[in-house]
Amino acid sequence: MKKIAVIPGDGVGPEVVRESRKVLDHIASVDPAIEFGFEEFPWSAESYLKSGEMMPPDGLDMLSSFDALLFGAIGSPLVADHITLRELLLRIRGGFDQYVNLRPVRLLEGIESPLVGVTTADIDMIFVREGTEGEYAGVGARLYPGSDREVALQTAVFSRHGMERVIRWAFELATREGRSVTSVSKGNALNYSAVFWDQVFDEVAAQYPTVPTQRLLVDAAAMFMVMDPKRFGVVVASNLFADILTDLGAAIMGGMGFAPSANLNPERTFPSMFEPIHGSAPDIAGQGKANPIGSLWSTSMMLDHLGYPQWGDALMKAIERVMAQQCVRTPDLGGQSSTEEMGDAVLAALEAPPASLTPKL
Ligand code: NAI
Ligand code: MG
Repeated sequence: MKKIAVIPGDGVGPEVVRESRKVLDHIASVDPAIEFGFEEFPWSAESYLKSGEMMPPDGLDMLSSFDALLFGAIGSPLVADHITLRELLLRIRGGFDQYVNLRPVRLLEGIESPLVGVTTADIDMIFVREGTEGEYAGVGARLYPGSDREVALQTAVFSRHGMERVIRWAFELATREGRSVTSVSKGNALNYSAVFWDQVFDEVAAQYPTVPTQRLLVDAAAMFMVMDPKRFGVVVASNLFADILTDLGAAIMGGMGFAPSANLNPERTFPSMFEPIHGSAPDIAGQGKANPIGSLWSTSMMLDHLGYPQWGDALMKAIERVMAQQCVRTPDLGGQSSTEEMGDAVLAALEAPPASLTPKL
């Protein structure tokens, strides 16, 4: 049995996670070789307002024995965003050493990109975002608060260890998939951290002489994602830069509702976490309007990670089929369908891979 910790979170988080749960329950019911044990953790801005904490002090211990974490989204207008993000999501990413934040940016057949004249072949890149340090290391201080001498310091952390392992992971991915690697940084202005990043990138790249590479400044990378997206294969970047660029990625692949992510601890010392990249979307929460595809796509990545790639693949194909048919569309796609109807459509399109129906041991 695979143990899955479910953290639905706030806003549309619970709405999209419900659709993922439905698909996982279905897979377990039709495949005798698969069993999931779910435990739900109601940690959210809402629970913070009652308890004063985003997760209990031993929250990471509570999660550490799970095979994977399924996360919705976190954030509420009632609680400061730095509390919800830092004290839950970033604590998990950092505490479980999830240093590979994998974020595919791919235009699906049947979805219209806001970019004119692009096809599915033009938008197919995979971001490898560093997930544990960089600009989000949480190092800094506020000095002399409330006085006219008030100062804020926010220190980015770029370690050789941290950069090397994530850049190497990106090259391994590129080698497996026959892709190029683009490094995004800002070495002209960030003369310590980004120059170091560029240096480590070049060192690792030299060990993969057959992989085509390019180095871009982050501002130029943003421009090229709009003007020439097909130049990107695998993209590796620090925490902040890839956070920003993947919202742009979500936009060019059709909207925030699509974009999936996996927070991987590649050594599997700790559980990895799967979540759509969007936030809690308070503007549409509670109305059944959220597009669940980002969550379902992340679930497909979770199935791959758990050792069920045939099901991960089947779920991805179901998502692609529903998108290509263009019948069921949530409001972000110009339609009237609900979150649940979209989830049901993907479930109906899900075809069991016969090879996976092996007897339970
Ligand atoms: P957001 O991603 O929640 O929303 C941005 C826009 O995208 C909104 O117009 C929203 O309606 C739309 N959108 C998001 N998800 C959608 C979906 N599944 N289907 C259709 N449309 C969707 O980002 P925003 O508004 O900047 O932040 C809202 C809250 O979420 C804040 O509290 C923020 O801190 C938090 N947040 C949490 C994240 C996480 O849990 N991983 C990531 C980003 C933001
Ligand atoms: Mg983001």
